[in-house]
Amino acid sequence: MHYDFDKIIERQGTNSVKYDLRKQLFGSEEVLPMWVADMDFETPDFIRKSVVERANHLIYGYTFRSNAYYKSIVDWQKRHHNWKITKDWILFSPGIVAALNMIVLALTNPNDEIIVQPPVYFPFFTAVKNHKRCLVYNNLILPEQGYRMDFDLLEKQAKTAKMIILCNPHNPVGRSWKTDELQRLSEICIKNDLLIISDEIHCDLVLPPNKHTVFASLNTEIAARTITLHAASKTFNLAGLSTSSIIISDEKLRETVKTYIENLHVDMGNLFGIVATQTAFEKGDEWLRQLLVYVNRNVDEVCDFLSKHLPKIKVFRPEATYMVWLDFNAYGLTDNDIRSMLIEKAKLGFNSGIEFGSNGSGFYRMNLGCPLQTVKQALLQLKQTFESYE
Ligand SMILES: Cc1ncc(COP(=O)(O)O)c(C=O)c1O
Repeated sequence: MHYDFDKIIERQGTNSVKYDLRKQLFGSEEVLPMWVADMDFETPDFIRKSVVERANHLIYGYTFRSNAYYKSIVDWQKRHHNWKITKDWILFSPGIVAALNMIVLALTNPNDEIIVQPPVYFPFFTAVKNHKRCLVYNNLILPEQGYRMDFDLLEKQAKTAKMIILCNPHNPVGRSWKTDELQRLSEICIKNDLLIISDEIHCDLVLPPNKHTVFASLNTEIAARTITLHAASKTFNLAGLSTSSIIISDEKLRETVKTYIENLHVDMGNLFGIVATQTAFEKGDEWLRQLLVYVNRNVDEVCDFLSKHLPKIKVFRPEATYMVWLDFNAYGLTDNDIRSMLIEKAKLGFNSGIEFGSNGSGFYRMNLGCPLQTVKQALLQLKQTFESYE
């Protein structure tokens, strides 16, 4: 079966964050929205079918997650990432950000130091700061060959820190961390008794030929201190269904997190989220394969176009995610200048890099989870605005 990722779908008027909050966020409804990380592709037909089938039943009462639901997650991890997990390791969370916050609260104390690696998905900052824990910035470094972790600095910071929040793969810079990099990180974590939250929400969106390594799968010692976060939400465009997993092999850690979640009574979940997640993991292999080919094609388009027409914009070709990280610093303009050029002249709604940390200044994140036609239109608008600055 061939899936159609070219189809343009009208999302305006559906209370879509990406489309219907444009006026609020960009001051204009005219911007082409390429910001928040959901996709403009239709949620796969086999998932919609299973949700509609369940919706056709006349009662939407309290629902538990069946063995088949857990089996779909266990099998997916084994099939796609060669990670062997068991049903009892899997806890429910209504979202990954909710999970981050609950885990920080359950496993750390006020004033504990928690390390993050900017530029990084900004809710990592609030999950630490909002609970009066102490944020420690282990900024990524940017040598010629692209973003790397600053292990020398991390060695020092890890001595007093309690936890690190790893983004694996990394949003927004698009790195799919290689096994040797994760190995080095794991040695530092073990040596310094650090807990790790590994946010792997983008792990199924690793673009071929890159390969994902599950951090907790490195060895049993690292597994015993790692909390892995995973969901079908990004991969299959189900973000509105609020269903995700916290996977913990260590029984003691798991019991602490589980008790915290159960005491909040947020583990009931959403019945349609359960159905959609199970179906995605049972039937989604081929759809995902085709999606990744399409996204890689969109990435090629951006790389080729910018190197030809706007070479001052440096593109960080993503190894994972459908987002591309663009560096506008060569123009020598301020963040505000670039932002107003993008919104007012180019009419493009990208995420400002500065939101992801101070080392995101001058960068923008562009969402390529959309038809090629939309990507081409955006590039044209970008060219018309910036070509006179080349
Ligand atoms: C790294 C990362 N974690 C978590 C999320 C959001 O997860 P959720 O919607 O389940 O809270 C995103 C969304 O962009 C993300 O990029």
